[in-house]
Amino acid sequence: MKRTHNCGELTKKNLGQKVILQGWVKKTRKLGGLNFIDLRDRYGVTQLIIEDANLLNLSLLKPEFVIEVSGEVIQRKNSNPEMFTGEIEVKVSKIEIINSAELTPFEIKDNLESNEDTKMTFRYLDLRREELQKNFILRSKVNKIIRDYYCENDFIEVETPIFGKSTPEGARDFLVPSRTNHHKFYALPQSPQLYKQLLMIAGFDRYFQIAKCFRDEDLRIDRQPEFTQLDMEMSFATPEDIQNNIEGLLTKIIWETKKIKLKTPLPRITYAEAISKYGIDKPDLRFDLQIHDCNNIFSKTEINLFQNINSDSVRGIKVDHLIGKKEMEYLSETANQNKLPNLPFLKFNNGEWSGSLAKNLSDNEKKNLIEIFKIKSDCTLLIAKGEYNLVSQALGAIRNHVAKIYELFDKNEINLLWVIDFPLFEFSEEENRFVAAHHPFTQPKEESISDFDVNKKEALAAAYDIVMNGFEIGGGSQRITNEEIQKRMFKAVEMTPESVEKNFGWFINAYKFGAPYHSGCALGIDRILMILAQTNSIRDVIAFPKNSNGIDPMTNAPDVVSPNQLDELKLKLSK
Ligand code: AMO
Repeated sequence: MKRTHNCGELTKKNLGQKVILQGWVKKTRKLGGLNFIDLRDRYGVTQLIIEDANLLNLSLLKPEFVIEVSGEVIQRKNSNPEMFTGEIEVKVSKIEIINSAELTPFEIKDNLESNEDTKMTFRYLDLRREELQKNFILRSKVNKIIRDYYCENDFIEVETPIFGKSTPEGARDFLVPSRTNHHKFYALPQSPQLYKQLLMIAGFDRYFQIAKCFRDEDLRIDRQPEFTQLDMEMSFATPEDIQNNIEGLLTKIIWETKKIKLKTPLPRITYAEAISKYGIDKPDLRFDLQIHDCNNIFSKTEINLFQNINSDSVRGIKVDHLIGKKEMEYLSETANQNKLPNLPFLKFNNGEWSGSLAKNLSDNEKKNLIEIFKIKSDCTLLIAKGEYNLVSQALGAIRNHVAKIYELFDKNEINLLWVIDFPLFEFSEEENRFVAAHHPFTQPKEESISDFDVNKKEALAAAYDIVMNGFEIGGGSQRITNEEIQKRMFKAVEMTPESVEKNFGWFINAYKFGAPYHSGCALGIDRILMILAQTNSIRDVIAFPKNSNGIDPMTNAPDVVSPNQLDELKLKLSK
């Protein structure tokens, strides 16, 4: 290449060398009779000094111009210890403009407050920022670690179709109409789940894939309509074998990207324990803040709110601060967002009780609260009443917000755990039936095999999730490989034999031809990167993401198509 070096590598070792650099003008400045240019590329920034005013009229040179310079590496008068190249500068003898640049719609610099959609419209400019570039260098590194790890362990990478069949029992599919098969649609895969199971039947034994997945769901900070999974499956493997394999991978990723040694085996807690102690199935265990049951404390209470509890639960958490008014409002809002109409509280200040529940609080209740919450100093108790799962979930969300407000965790810590023994089913109010909590090919746990289709509420699945700093970064299960169990499973989710045949016949037939038992897992690569890169949005680790409405403001996708295209597809749009 014509350039001899990049903009991030010259140091005192190169003093006296003649170099050619190419890159983007970050900024220009004049100091006395001297002109300076900061030249940027993805490797860093190098300061250029122009002593000869005849070389170029510097006022012609604007930020983001692409230029080429020849010159000599010299020592800087005032070195900059913040920059890798901070001890040198390049004294320019020749300068050439490769391409000019218009004024950019926002300045290319980190931590810039600018309209999100404007940044996404000019994503290629936003991607010039060092902070974002770092994320993609990290992403590339993590992809390589994944590929190396699996290839070294005898796994083979198999690509599976993007155009598949729409099947029920999952999230909403994205559909693609077929031109050659009128009125028929492909569905984009929500994951390669069924294909990887078929690969086990095909005898591939150890499969992995870095797979694009598509789900038409409401978007959140950790959700995109298209995202990437590390998808894997192993034959003759139990859930424990899979968990060990994933722990091995994460140990490698976290060591090689963060130099943090993961302690394995990772802790495992059951779903029931997670809900009981932390309210949600993806607890952030960088902080403790456990939820306690208070039903017994208030069984004979004078507090109106807690009388006639019936089947409800009274649960609470202790915050080791006297929560201020503003914070309390914020936490009440979180409660409301989680369907909890109010968030009663008690403050314990210098041995005195105050707060919305304090008026009718008995001495005995005070004593029990001190004991259960192990109160030793000033604190606030947030105590809520309602249906067990609802109260737990709301307190789980509040727990996370309390930790953020009072900075109860170390931002640099990586905390991982497995949540195991998930329920096999969840009740869908919308459909008024039990649906598979994971998917209907998930093996029931040994102790639930005999009666999972009768005691659906209690049935447990051989399914597991992995949680990192309060985000679900992956999940998997053992699969059903027994025809009888599969039939009972379909019946349990109220699928008729006709519907099973129509939707999944092609798949379950395969199990008639010799199936090894098998288990697997998928990790959300975008979510893992979001945590490793310490950013607050999944968009910061996806090169061309969609905004919160599922739109790409740069291309304006999704967009209308021409009447001709619709005609070819034999499609008519309804009003
Ligand atoms: P699951 O549905 O739990 O399992 O997905 C696995 C992981 O993928 C990530 N993920 C997402 N990331 C970004 N945006 C989204 N919309 C999104 N949806 C999911 C999460 C999640 O934990 N086939 C099974 C795996 C298996 O059983 O082997 C599956 O897809 O991090």
